[in-house]
Amino acid sequence: MIIKFIRGLLSERTDDYTFHSSTRNNLYFDREVGLYIHIPFCKSMCPYCPYYKVFYNKELSLRFKSALISEIKRFYNNSKKCITSLYIGGGTPTLMVDDLGTIINEFNKHFNLDEMLAIETTPGDITEDKIKILTNIGFRFISIGVQSFQQKYLSLIGRNYDSNKAIRTIELLKNYQFDTVNIDLIFAFPGETISELFSDLQRAVSFYPDQITCYPLFMFPYSTIGRFKKIKKLKMPPHHLRRKMYYIIHDFLKDSGYVRSSVWSFNKADTKPYSSVTRDYYIGFGPSAASYTGKGFYFNTFSVTEYIKTVPYRKPIALEMKVSEKMEKLFWLYWRLYQTVIPVKMYNTLFGKDIYEDFGRIFRAMRTFGFIQKEDDDGIVLSKRGCHWVHLAQNYIALNYVSKIWSTFQKNPWSERVEL
Ligand SMILES: C[S@@+](CC[C@H](N)C(=O)[O-])C[C@H]1O[C@@H](n2cnc3c(N)ncnc32)[C@H](O)[C@@H]1O
Ligand code: SF4
Repeated sequence: MIIKFIRGLLSERTDDYTFHSSTRNNLYFDREVGLYIHIPFCKSMCPYCPYYKVFYNKELSLRFKSALISEIKRFYNNSKKCITSLYIGGGTPTLMVDDLGTIINEFNKHFNLDEMLAIETTPGDITEDKIKILTNIGFRFISIGVQSFQQKYLSLIGRNYDSNKAIRTIELLKNYQFDTVNIDLIFAFPGETISELFSDLQRAVSFYPDQITCYPLFMFPYSTIGRFKKIKKLKMPPHHLRRKMYYIIHDFLKDSGYVRSSVWSFNKADTKPYSSVTRDYYIGFGPSAASYTGKGFYFNTFSVTEYIKTVPYRKPIALEMKVSEKMEKLFWLYWRLYQTVIPVKMYNTLFGKDIYEDFGRIFRAMRTFGFIQKEDDDGIVLSKRGCHWVHLAQNYIALNYVSKIWSTFQKNPWSERVEL
């Protein structure tokens, strides 16, 4: 309700936030884009995880690889524009480590992807041999989903490794030449105490990784953990404790030499953030991958078998939403708020308009509520309080919008309509 209300205030009357079924053959765009590939395989299913994935099976993964290569060929046959990065996510992309070289080569025939290849994985699937293959292919950014160093929480969320394996994985990664190694942690587990949070942060900082990302545990209603009554009954930390934890993370990581790079992430000075979601425009490959061209938002079908069947004929887009100029500006602002710095001049260059003319009301409200720490020609920087509120909005949006789209697709891989 609140988000709809705010959206109504900032959008045009005619703006419609509804996805409709799509029969597009391909996507066309005329600007720099980031690329994302979704590899939908895992060896174990974590009950809290909302992302689209199926159990790994070699035969299916090979059929998927051929389909993916067709989707990539279709893309570059139609587009010769500049690529800013390639992120491979999932799922557990390193399960297909032996095929990643072929997939990347397909892009490298047309684009120079050196220095901007990124991948995510879990300690449960990393070995030194795999790290060697990844660095040989040219991956420069890696994100590792540690989640916690405490066995009771790893067990609670169904992870298939122990904290020693998580530690060994980070130590191994530190021996290789990545530009950025990111460690994902989860906080606000049911029953988690402040001293347990400190213990995870201290352990993470002891490796001094390039980046640390801390997500609160999202209870997506359609994920197993969301449906599982017994776990639902476990007491989630109340709002005031979650806020306290959020502030502790902010203070602790700043005092340990990190700089905030998004509402969830902190980086060592002079490192480039690992961030799969903050490109201005992006094209997604693989089942469930999203694309955003500034003119439209698109989702590929969420079923890997439907994906394989469809790709020989067209880009497997199931849903699309038209994006008006006002919506494009609003999405841009949303992701800059996520990065906690709004580069005001960039807006003027991109949209040919003064950002204060378009969004003056938002900035006035932010000033009134103490959400802004600094405001000058370089940009608007969010305060700690501002970051917390944007993080709450992110929680809300993740739980509502993402849930709506993903739960609809779970029921029907070619859903016809989703109203946000
Ligand atoms: C989808 S995972 C992919 C990486 C890898 N498969 C793994 O499990 O670590 C990416 C990150 O999303 C975060 N994540 C996934 N589900 C979440 C949830 N329900 N709440 C908070 N964070 C979540 C985790 O921190 C995880 O490292
Ligand atoms: S959290 Fe990672 S390993 Fe677990 S099911 Fe999700 S994608 Fe797979």
